[in-house]
Amino acid sequence: MAPQPRLEGKVAIVTGGASGFGKGIATKFVEEGALVLIADLADEAGQGVAKELGCAFTVGDVTKREDWERLLKEAIDKFGRLDIVINNAGATYANKATEDVTEAEFDRVMNVNVKSVYLSTNVIVPYFMEKEISGNFVQIASTAGVRPRPRLTWYNASKAAVINATKAMAVEYGPQQIRFNSVSPVIGSTGMTHLFIGKANTPENRKAFESTVPLGRGSTPADVANACCYLASDEAAFITGVNLEVDGGRCV
Ligand SMILES: NC(=O)c1ccc[n+]([C@@H]2O[C@H](COP(=O)([O-])OP(=O)(O)OC[C@H]3O[C@@H](n4cnc5c(N)ncnc54)[C@H](O)[C@@H]3O)[C@@H](O)[C@H]2O)c1
Repeated sequence: MAPQPRLEGKVAIVTGGASGFGKGIATKFVEEGALVLIADLADEAGQGVAKELGCAFTVGDVTKREDWERLLKEAIDKFGRLDIVINNAGATYANKATEDVTEAEFDRVMNVNVKSVYLSTNVIVPYFMEKEISGNFVQIASTAGVRPRPRLTWYNASKAAVINATKAMAVEYGPQQIRFNSVSPVIGSTGMTHLFIGKANTPENRKAFESTVPLGRGSTPADVANACCYLASDEAAFITGVNLEVDGGRCV
């Protein structure tokens, strides 16, 4: 007998699904039977992914409350409900001395990485409570939030905030059966990698970062997607407040 798809009938929003880890998450979720709405700033790339996967796409900015309200409405209009939010969209400035980080760079990192989690939960938790849906959130944090590297100070701090807020909400909304978890990848090869390493994303240039990973390589979109699938599924019904490091042992 073929195994049951692990996200059968679940409706999921995946932010930043037009590339990198988010595309990997959307791919896995569709394979596992979820109805997926990708939200991303990148219109053309997002439409391409949606066509490839046979899922929905909408242009959306995770730092805007009105976009979150529209995303919730679109999920309900298209699929009848919402069960899962994957807060994957992220931003960083290029690896640099901390005293050189501009206020605009600081604000962007905090808005895209942290305010997005505030807005998504602020808009969607009341919906879950009103409809008595045991929904869940998975935020894509980073090993940077647990084991910070120099020259990425405010990116590290933004991901630490995400991990901490996720744990607080897990406790606060446990009685309503709403779950909150985060997944922390180590360096991968995506649209953001050149910024983390501060130079072109080549295997040679990634070596210094990957050399501190006991399993000897970076995170792939499939690694991240498999962890998200588990946490978002009913298999993880008793898992909340966890930060799952998908990092080949980097954080040990
Ligand atoms: N690549 C790595 O090494 C690495 C390691 C650990 C964690 N992460 C985290 O993984 C997540 C995914 O990033 P990625 O590495 O796949 O990079 P990526 O650049 O390939 O994907 C990020 C996506 O987010 C979208 N996005 C950016 N700002 C947005 C906004 N305001 N609203 C909507 N969409 C927006 C981009 O258009 C892009 O499609 C991020 O949260 C990042 O911090 C990445």
